Amino acid sequence: MIQKADRLNDVKEYYFSKKLREVAALRSAGKPVINIAIGSPDLHPSANVIEALQQAVTLPNAHQYQSYQGIPELRDGMAQFYKANYHVILNPANEILPLMGSKEGIMHISLAFLNKGDEVLIPNPGYPTYASVTNLVEAKPIFYNLNAENNWLPNFDEIEKNDLSKVKIMWINYPHMPTGAVATKDDFKQLIAFAKKHNILIVNDNPYSFILNDNPLSILEVEGAKEVAIELNSLSKTFNMAGWRVGMVVGDAQIIKTILEVKSNMDSGMFLGIQKGAVEAFKLSNDWFQKQNEIYQERRALVWKIFDALNCTYNPNIGGLFVWAKIPADENSEALTDKLLYEKDVFITPGTIFGTNGEGYIRASLCVDTATLNEVLKRITA
Ligand SMILES: Cc1ncc(COP(=O)(O)O)c(C=O)c1O
Repeated sequence: MIQKADRLNDVKEYYFSKKLREVAALRSAGKPVINIAIGSPDLHPSANVIEALQQAVTLPNAHQYQSYQGIPELRDGMAQFYKANYHVILNPANEILPLMGSKEGIMHISLAFLNKGDEVLIPNPGYPTYASVTNLVEAKPIFYNLNAENNWLPNFDEIEKNDLSKVKIMWINYPHMPTGAVATKDDFKQLIAFAKKHNILIVNDNPYSFILNDNPLSILEVEGAKEVAIELNSLSKTFNMAGWRVGMVVGDAQIIKTILEVKSNMDSGMFLGIQKGAVEAFKLSNDWFQKQNEIYQERRALVWKIFDALNCTYNPNIGGLFVWAKIPADENSEALTDKLLYEKDVFITPGTIFGTNGEGYIRASLCVDTATLNEVLKRITA
């Protein structure tokens, strides 16, 4: 048997990759499992986006390798998107790098800036990929605590009790997944000041700013932010294009160039049709966001009812693509979600997959239609 690489010692198979196999096995055994765990938008992209993809397949260069930096039209669209929605001016020639989804950017950024043994500040709870990629590149995750008392924002006094001299990157993600918490511009200012003080690169992972959130913000809106911060963004949730795999990393030209040094050695450009579709997505007006959010609002009201039935509590003033709920004190996250899976045929995410501070919480997704959510409610109250 060939031994796997040491770098995999601290990395486990992604929770959903494993758990969805179990859900599939239950379904093939005849169990009608409903999945309200995963944030994969079920709504479709706009018709113009799909049409642009379809038309692109007949273009003369449609099936050739594409530019490592994406077509100029796509970077222009991304620059326009940042200007219109966040008032951030980016040079499309060198401050934007299209990605095949923001998830791959987490690896590219880590490969570009981390040496073995470097330390990385990672939110607990947070998106699990930050820690697994940090382990894969043989750097060291240093988890910082987020909790409800602090509105799920970093506590700098607590973080500064650590020796930060080896910390090179800090991952932040506002609006935050899984809790839905948002950072204000003042919070971002504090983060930038912290990064400057400790010479740390902050990466804000920002795929959720348009979902049930009235005030989309970019960390790059803060003056001087580009010196120490970059941002990941994505079309997955904003434009219902998760399976297309389109995202971007934006920021200082030199930092983007360094990331390109990694990325250009890993893939050979993004399919032209996908880029053409993405260009159309960036042309959509605010109506698009409004219509999406009306649907999500209706679904969220039902998820709240489901959580009420489970005696869970949640913050109704918080947005995002998920509802994050506190479970009764005598319950445990994984035991509760397993009970719901095996007894009610409903798959919900235990908060613990996002870190130890997720104990005591569960997360439900809004990527499920109202008929299905009503069925979940029926099963839970039965
Ligand atoms: C916080 C966070 N970052 C990044 C991603 C990855 O998004 P993308 O589809 O752009 O790779 C997700 C997807 O669920 C996410 O929740």
